[in-house]
Amino acid sequence: MSTVMTRLKSSPLFRYVNIPRRFIYALGYYRERLSDLIVWLFKSKEYTNFTYDLTERNIADLCDFLAVSLGGTFEEFQGYVAEIQNDTALADHVRELTRHSPFRTVSDEDVKFGRRIGWYAAVRHLKPAVIVETGVEKGLGSLVLCAALLRNKAEGHPGHYYGTDIDPKAGWLFTGKYRDVGELLIGDSIASLERLPVLIDLFINDSDHSAEYEAREYETIADKMASDGIIIGDNAHCTDKLSRFAHKTGLSYCFFREEPARHWYPGGGIGLAFPKRSRGARVSSKVVRLH
Ligand SMILES: C[S@@+](CC[C@H](N)C(=O)[O-])C[C@H]1O[C@@H](n2cnc3c(N)ncnc32)[C@H](O)[C@@H]1O
Repeated sequence: MSTVMTRLKSSPLFRYVNIPRRFIYALGYYRERLSDLIVWLFKSKEYTNFTYDLTERNIADLCDFLAVSLGGTFEEFQGYVAEIQNDTALADHVRELTRHSPFRTVSDEDVKFGRRIGWYAAVRHLKPAVIVETGVEKGLGSLVLCAALLRNKAEGHPGHYYGTDIDPKAGWLFTGKYRDVGELLIGDSIASLERLPVLIDLFINDSDHSAEYEAREYETIADKMASDGIIIGDNAHCTDKLSRFAHKTGLSYCFFREEPARHWYPGGGIGLAFPKRSRGARVSSKVVRLH
């Protein structure tokens, strides 16, 4: 290195001289996202509740996340994910309804489930009798959850879905056979939860995303959860309300972060609160002679 450069580097001014180079280096990390953003502006019509696929690596991580937290194997969850990804009837349903909906100017026809494939896989594994999802919007989550319930039912494990939303227009995708295993409760979510006459096996929080409202939902369902009930938080990338609730009530907690494929959105995630598994449940290993 030349003496001039060595001198410059040891000067207090060097940190300012070096700013453009550091800026260009850091910008490299956002280049792909910026080009995704430009493509999205012209290809997508969405302005809220964005839909996207997850990267392959992220899907594999999701399967491991579910296997470790809920029990079961990586391969089992991979199978469930393949099931929903290959569900052409579900994809056609979304395409047809979106094409003819008054919301078609702000909704995409091609279905992309993002983290909801994890919700689907959880329902297929858990076989819940009662699912509650607060916050339905167009009804993508409702479809995913009820598609899983329909498969469970065909295998002899029926279940019922309740979706709550304050907007009477919510759930326009939630029609046809999917509606046979579920219903919508229109009104404030807390009020609907308070009136719910059944125990909940799987609860998904996705309504008012303020931290305060999210926490109130967990407080409201605390006594309404089945003893082995599971809670999914869709706000867990923004708040610590579900993890705090889990720690307070003796549940285990973990978080999966989404990695959207070819989309500018940095991703949400799945917060998961579930009953602690007893250590005694471990299968004891056989004594094996090594030599
Ligand atoms: C993020 S969207 C739900 C997305 C949906 N779960 C999905 O999988 O696509 C949030 C929804 O919550 C509803 N919402 C907001 N505040 C609410 C409240 N206090 N009670 C019930 N629903 C509410 C909104 O009308 C909106 O449709």
